[in-house]
Amino acid sequence: MIAVWCGFGLALGMALSANSHADGAAIAKAGAGAAPACQTCHGAAGEGVPQGGFPRLAGLGASYMQRQLDAFVAGTRVSSVMMPIAKALAVVDRAEVSAYYAALPVQAVPAAVLPAAPASAPAVAPASARVGATLAIRGRWADKLPSCEQCHGPGGRGVGSDFPALTGQGATYLANQLMAWKTGARPPGPLGLMAAVAKKLSDAEVRAVADHYASLPVRGAR
Ligand code: HEC
Ligand code: HEC
Repeated sequence: MIAVWCGFGLALGMALSANSHADGAAIAKAGAGAAPACQTCHGAAGEGVPQGGFPRLAGLGASYMQRQLDAFVAGTRVSSVMMPIAKALAVVDRAEVSAYYAALPVQAVPAAVLPAAPASAPAVAPASARVGATLAIRGRWADKLPSCEQCHGPGGRGVGSDFPALTGQGATYLANQLMAWKTGARPPGPLGLMAAVAKKLSDAEVRAVADHYASLPVRGAR
């Protein structure tokens, strides 16, 4: 009897270890090993929580997200929150959870989870709004700065798997990323494109263009 149970336990153990990584949906909902459930910060449908600084993941390119997780593991993209989480994921888990989020539909953050705007919320100054929209749509050719739309698509909806959407992300998150490229806290990425762009923006321009994209409606790219 004991031998039978031992054999059963061994077979079960082998089955579990052969399949010890969870699939993408399971990681998102329940975590994997020491990695917590992604949805506790990134939202139940991957829509993000702008006021918490948690980016949207739904609909971003799988290869883009996998590259970010790899960079958190390598420590080239600095985030005290995401570095230990990414390190707790096996390589195959990073691939599967990226594929899971890439396939989720892009949707707006439910109004219910957004705090009511305080009555005295300072509106974006019209001059700053103009600066943000101009950078987004026209760029600044005198400075060899292409428009954001040239790479991120009309309305910042994202293009393919490597140019992430900018709409659907909070202003603080967007501004933090641009500042991270200016200071080297985020790796330059493919061809160093974003580091080159960010270094041409003043701090006021970073804020203006981040506010611009955070204010646009969320629409799916693909
Ligand atoms: C405790 C909160 C928290 C949890 C849990 C969490 N994240 Fe994050 N995640 C963040 C924060 C904060 C950032 C933004 C980091 C930065 O500013 O660079 C982020 C950024 C990311 C990014 C980069 C997004 C982009 O647009 O570049 C990816 C990809 C990501 N997380 C995936 C995951 C996955 C997969 C899980 C689950 C295994 C997970 N996260 C769990 C807080 C969290
Ligand atoms: C020449 C092409 C190009 C231009 C122009 C460009 N970007 Fe990017 N952008 C990229 C690429 C490529 C990435 C992905 C970087 C990576 O994979 O690490 C990116 C990523 C980003 C991200 C990170 C998104 C996330 O989810 O973390 C932000 C924010 C961003 N760009 C903002 C802008 C803004 C604002 C402008 C205009 C001022 C702009 N970009 C212009 C190519 C470009």
